[in-house]
Amino acid sequence: MRFYLAEDYKELSRKAARIIFSQVALKPKSVLGLATGSTPLGMYRELVKIYREEKLSFSDIKTFNLDEYYRISKENPQSYYYYMHKNLFQYVDIDEKNINIPDGEAKDIEGECMRYEEEILKAGGIDLQVLGIGVNGHIGFNEPDLKFEALTHLVELDETTIKANSRFFESQERVPTRAISMGIKTIMHSRKILLLANGAEKVDAIKEALEGEIKPQVPASILQLHPNLTVIADKEASQKLSSSIKNRKYN
Ligand code: F6R
Repeated sequence: MRFYLAEDYKELSRKAARIIFSQVALKPKSVLGLATGSTPLGMYRELVKIYREEKLSFSDIKTFNLDEYYRISKENPQSYYYYMHKNLFQYVDIDEKNINIPDGEAKDIEGECMRYEEEILKAGGIDLQVLGIGVNGHIGFNEPDLKFEALTHLVELDETTIKANSRFFESQERVPTRAISMGIKTIMHSRKILLLANGAEKVDAIKEALEGEIKPQVPASILQLHPNLTVIADKEASQKLSSSIKNRKYN
């Protein structure tokens, strides 16, 4: 694991965007796994800046998002489809056919989950997967206690997740209670993983994930076993991490 301690959210976002930039510069046909939520917003802003100022092209890139609410339409401003277009895709030269997000309105859920896994395989697997972390330690929408070996599947969202995500909705009742999410197994198959955490509310989740026991009650703890994990956390989120983690050299 490589650990990068960022001064603040701005630095975290810049560093994360730089990592994606170098991934794409070295492999223009990269397959990127993307996350939504508050954490990567700054990274997407930085990526758009790099795209404009340094001519980073997304034309050969394929993307796979981690998850989508179920049931939700693409036009719904709370959908992750909408989020990705609003915050990244509308600004860059990505080909719409290279964008993959689980269909939040799929009639045949099982079929949709299988199709998603097949698309990832057809693309040659994910080169670099970006992750945020939930306050309960979830990654994607893999909530505590879900089996580590799951592939893309329909999940019931945890109370804590519904509560945390209600900030994006008019009320908590409006938050969908289910989502289609890549499974832990799908995530772990990515060649590289970039985990981002900022803010004091992530302090326990990141501590447990990186230094706690590896167990399904803390889904992100499985990342300790990934051979190519980079973590970028800001000072607030890193407060409880031991110096042996914080002092790891990042090159
Ligand atoms: C988003 C996702 C989630 C979020 C996590 C943190 O696609 O899969 O795991 O990364 O809930 O969300 P924020 O960044 O809003 O704190």
